[in-house]
Amino acid sequence: MKVALLGAAGGIGQALALLLTTRLPQDGELSLYDIAPVTAGIAVDLSHIPSPVKVRGFCGPDASPALLGADIVLIVAGVARKPGMDRADLFNVNAGIVRQLVGQVAVCAPEALIGIVTNPVNTLVAIAAGVLAQAGVYQPQKLFGITTLDVIRANSYVAAMKGLRPDQIEVPVVGGHSGVTILPLLSQVPGITFSDEEVNLLTRRIRNAGTEVVEAKAGAGSATLAMGYAAARFTLSLVRALQGQQGIIECAYVESESAFSRFFAQPLLLGPQGVSARRPLGILSDFEQQALQDMRAALNQDIALGDQFLQQ
Ligand SMILES: NC(=O)c1ccc[n+]([C@@H]2O[C@H](COP(=O)([O-])OP(=O)(O)OC[C@H]3O[C@@H](n4cnc5c(N)ncnc54)[C@H](O)[C@@H]3O)[C@@H](O)[C@H]2O)c1
Repeated sequence: MKVALLGAAGGIGQALALLLTTRLPQDGELSLYDIAPVTAGIAVDLSHIPSPVKVRGFCGPDASPALLGADIVLIVAGVARKPGMDRADLFNVNAGIVRQLVGQVAVCAPEALIGIVTNPVNTLVAIAAGVLAQAGVYQPQKLFGITTLDVIRANSYVAAMKGLRPDQIEVPVVGGHSGVTILPLLSQVPGITFSDEEVNLLTRRIRNAGTEVVEAKAGAGSATLAMGYAAARFTLSLVRALQGQQGIIECAYVESESAFSRFFAQPLLLGPQGVSARRPLGILSDFEQQALQDMRAALNQDIALGDQFLQQ
């Protein structure tokens, strides 16, 4: 089981690499790639952890040696937000990076499951899909925008509000991964009810959680540790699904089957080929139905921006 991590020397990359070194299966291989020369040293550092997982570091202009034979490719390469920026401000730099890296994935690991963490996820997944399609290797069920951070934040906030254990709560978060496109489905959390005021408060806080971190870090970057944890959780779910384990469900941003938008984050049943089924959203509250309508234009605009970038 080989995982290639592109952008491995960054804040998220290092946290994620640490977690995967300790949690991938026995036969696991972790391939770290970054343009930063420190990458080889990060691999040496991790290799001192007594884990059966083989860690190798790769640097230089070309990710290909890191990608060969990968079952899962994670893209965390790019620039992160500073105070006053929203995720769209990252677009110009990160779109070029993702286009280049996904082009290399298309050649070296066309069968791999691909998870995109780099922001803006709503747009970069559309760009990745376009690059893979141009190369003739796009398999929609294998391309994911990783939105797990929104889910774990929702779980933590709900637990804190209700005095419950966060590891026993699972809030589906649907739509996309920025601003109003982030929609926690609080109506779908079994056994817990929320007042209108609580729904408003939680929805606003979950949408704003990334900015909360950016402001608290005061110019030193955005979420890295919780994001590393979230991406590790999602990756390990992909690993279990690839190994044939049944019943694995995660929310992620994938090509949708509805006319609402071309890409949409929702609960997915995972299998050896990636998405094996899209799960229904359930019976939504009036608030959630309205929020879905309210996000639609923004989500479609984000996706269209990806198409425009590819046509340039
Ligand atoms: N999906 C989410 O929920 C979520 C959450 C937080 C952050 N993010 C995004 O994740 C990305 C990474 O964040 P970070 O805090 O780790 O940033 P960072 O600046 O700490 O790390 C980014 C890394 O990417 C590397 N890089 C840049 N260009 C590259 C290329 N062409 N090939 C390989 N590596 C390259 C850099 O050298 C650096 O090591 C940002 O775009 C950020 O907005 C996503």
